[in-house]
Parts: sequence; C-alpha cells; structure tokens
Amino acid sequence: MSEDANVAMPAMTEAVKDPLVIRHLEYLGPMATRDGWRPEPTYPEIAFVGRSNVGKSSLLNRLMRRKAFARVSNTPGRTREIHFFDVNRQFVLADLPGYGYARISKSRKAEWRPLIEGYLSGSPQLHAVVQLLDARHEPTDDDFTMLDFLADLGVPTIVVATKIDKLRKSEITSSIAALAARVGVDAEQVLPFSAETGVGRDDLAAALMDVLSQPSWKTAQ
Ligand code: GTP
Ligand code: MG
Repeated sequence: MSEDANVAMPAMTEAVKDPLVIRHLEYLGPMATRDGWRPEPTYPEIAFVGRSNVGKSSLLNRLMRRKAFARVSNTPGRTREIHFFDVNRQFVLADLPGYGYARISKSRKAEWRPLIEGYLSGSPQLHAVVQLLDARHEPTDDDFTMLDFLADLGVPTIVVATKIDKLRKSEITSSIAALAARVGVDAEQVLPFSAETGVGRDDLAAALMDVLSQPSWKTAQ
C-alpha cells in the first residue's frame, strides 16, 4: 500500500484541471407558463430534469461549487417554474420543476406538463438534457414518460444516477448496469453521481463541456 502512495505522490502535486471553472453565475429569472417570460435564447442551454426529490438542486449546487445556489428542500414539489442561470456568460442552465410528486393537485400537474414539454421542444438553443434517476430505485412511469419524450425529441440526453453514496461500494457497478439496462443505454452512458461526496462532478462537467462544444442538434438536423 505504501508503494501505491509513493507512486501517487508526484501526480498530486500537479494541478488537476477542472473542466468547468465557475467565474460568473447569475440568476436570470423564472419561466412560469408555456408562453410566459424566458431569457432570450442567446447562449446554449442545458436543461436538468428528474422527479421530485431525486437530488436535482443538490447536484446543481455541487456542479456549481456553491452551497446554496439551488435550494435543497425537504418539501418536494415546491418548485413550479423553470429557473434559468447564466454560467460564465457561456451557457444557460435550466432547472426544471421536479415531476411525479404524488401529493400535488391534478390541476397543478396539468400546468406542469405543457410548461416542461413546451420549453424542451420550443428552445432553439437547447444543447442537451441531463436526466436524473435515483441510483437506488427502479425508474418510475414518469421517468419513462420523460425519457420517451426526450428520445422522440431527439435531444442529446445525459443520464445521471444520483445519491450513489447511499449504495454500498460493492453494489454500485451492478446497480448502474441494471439502471442502464432498464432505460436501454450502455452502462458507460450512465454517470454515477453523489452530491454528498462530489463523485461524478467533474465527469458531468466534462460531459456538459463536450455537448456545448458541438452545434445544437437542432441546427444539425
Ligand atoms: P425538488 O426540488 O423538491 O423536486 O427535489 P430535488 O430533486 O431538487 O432534490 P434535493 O436536491 O432538494 O434533495 C432532496 C433530498 O435528497 C434532500 O434531503 C437532499 O439532502 C438529499 N440528497 C440529494 N442528493 C443527495 C446525494 O447525493 N446523497 C445523499 N445521501 N442525499 C442526497
Ligand atoms: Mg429542487
């Protein structure tokens, strides 16, 4: 073991390159209805979707290296709007309301779907969607509805498995493989993530930088 430690020492003195250094972070505002206000689509956009309580706000805080940039709540289903953030005057993050919260009224659910689907299908600068799934659970019917919608749209989709710190180390590989099989992608295409420990943060940042460096799939069509 001490040999390994010696081998690792020289590498630790080199600065590890952060794929996404946050130099500027600015809240732009909320989009509340399908035809409501949204920021001018000047910059490329990346949207984050997932069911309520999947760990979306926690992931965004970790990604942005901020403690309380997106609000982490114990009250699922509170966020009803799409929140936009300018990152480095380079791209815009769209934080979509969590879906699938059972105790939300039918009328509120009826408002969400057109908002979410309208934004995703009507945003000319959308470069990718990050779909969050809980690493510990089977995807829900709502998750599959969202994944099918994204597949029909044809938008590049990055699948992230959240809360992997809640799995035993020995379970991680098999859980990710099972999740990937359920949603029909290769296991390498599912990014393990923990907002608690920071595992996966740089991999996700690198994946975002990669999609941002390519033209939007809309212009490529
Ligand atoms: P809504 O905004 O209500 O839809 O939820 P959300 O998807 O934004 O989830 P949020 O980040 O608010 O996290 C929900 C709960 O899960 C909180 O209690 C978090 O502390 C917890 N949580 C989020 N990410 C992780 C993680 O990676 N590991 C662990 N152990 N807990 C997490
Ligand atoms: Mg949230």
